[in-house]
Amino acid sequence: EAVSSRVIRGAILDYRDDPARGGEAAVRYLDDGLLWLRDGRIQGVGTPAALQGQLPPEQTVEDRRGCLLIPGLIDTHTHYPQIGIAAYPAGSLFAWLQQRAFPAEQSLDQPGMSEVLAHRFIAEMLRNGTTTAMVFAGVQPESADALFQYAQHLGLRLIAGKLLQDRLVPESLRESVEQAQLTTERLIQRWHGRDRLAYALTPRFAPACSEALLACCRDWLQQYPSLYLQTHLAETIEECERVRQLFPRYPSYVDLYADHGFLRPRSMLAHAIHLTPDEQRTLGQSGVSVAHCPSSNLLLGSGLMPLRALQRVGVLLSVGTDIGAGPSCSVLKTLADAMRVQQLQGEPLSAVQALYLATLGGARALQLEDCIGCFAPGHEADFLVLDLEATPELAERTARAGSLDELLGLLILLGDDRLVAEVNIQGQAIAPAGPLVPVGDV
Ligand code: GUN
Ligand code: ZN
Repeated sequence: EAVSSRVIRGAILDYRDDPARGGEAAVRYLDDGLLWLRDGRIQGVGTPAALQGQLPPEQTVEDRRGCLLIPGLIDTHTHYPQIGIAAYPAGSLFAWLQQRAFPAEQSLDQPGMSEVLAHRFIAEMLRNGTTTAMVFAGVQPESADALFQYAQHLGLRLIAGKLLQDRLVPESLRESVEQAQLTTERLIQRWHGRDRLAYALTPRFAPACSEALLACCRDWLQQYPSLYLQTHLAETIEECERVRQLFPRYPSYVDLYADHGFLRPRSMLAHAIHLTPDEQRTLGQSGVSVAHCPSSNLLLGSGLMPLRALQRVGVLLSVGTDIGAGPSCSVLKTLADAMRVQQLQGEPLSAVQALYLATLGGARALQLEDCIGCFAPGHEADFLVLDLEATPELAERTARAGSLDELLGLLILLGDDRLVAEVNIQGQAIAPAGPLVPVGDV
């Protein structure tokens, strides 16, 4: 028969619920289990004894003992055109945008540059174990096409959109409202719901958008309720002050977005650091998601995100690498920074809670919990094989870890991309091609 079946033996971990609420019962961990895949989807998970008898006769079992199988990581906020300027710190948000981010996005005007950067970005995210991301492209519509095309070619589940911006940014990166309507409409028709892809309306943030452009987003969301939306919110104090000056009619930044229909499920707001308790509650009641971007926040000096306060009022939380303000595509490194930032605030984030944010938490934040994020039967088999013996110290320490939290703490704080031994998309190991063409300065 044409159905392809795969069985992998190793340690297995996934989440049934948020461990911040469900405690240890929210986690499923088998130190010696089988992951059974059929036709690119999860068929079952269990101990060898439990699954014996159910497997097809003569099914080969791939022996990955010494490895940990986890769902693919989910990065809910990042900017692919900025991959070439990541890890160049340059002051605080507005200075960094002018000096680094905008020039990087202008480089997409060069022929072929979108394809080159899209390939580089996807190769790097996969190498770090990210199998699904929510991504900002450039303002150029072709930059969104380039990313979607390569993701489609690889069979990735990916959400992206082209930037919407008509002020603050350099003239060459602005677009009239009419132009934005034409290009966005075309991209929605071409990519939204095609294969595993979805389109996200991507207004950069209020300071870069006229009220007319924000109003376009409100209209599109009404016309196409299944669209995603992604933007930035309250990343820095200076940004919040500018929004007050630019939109004096609105009582708050959150009110401005609420008034334009942004507070809804499938909207992803990045940062959300500088909000009042009232604004936080409004977010919590709306079903909106927030992408916590601790690495970016630390490098730009944006502030310490009040993760627990947002969690307490019911905001759906996830993590974003926020390349290029964030220095790397590594979700594991980003989780390490999330743990440090919580430690600084006296409200620690355990490793078990941290990894939830990048797996089932991310899937829930994107309303994709029926497709990805855990090993429930029928789910799409995007998963990682983590080599617990990738370095001598990891081998030594993971063998002695006294609890699941200690084990995951080692992966997040001691591990790096060497952990990621195999990345599987729809049940198949993937090895993305190298650079598309030799890459010059970006
Ligand atoms: N706010 C508006 N644009 C950006 C951006 O490109 N990166 C970050 N980190 N914040 C922003
Ligand atoms: Zn960002």
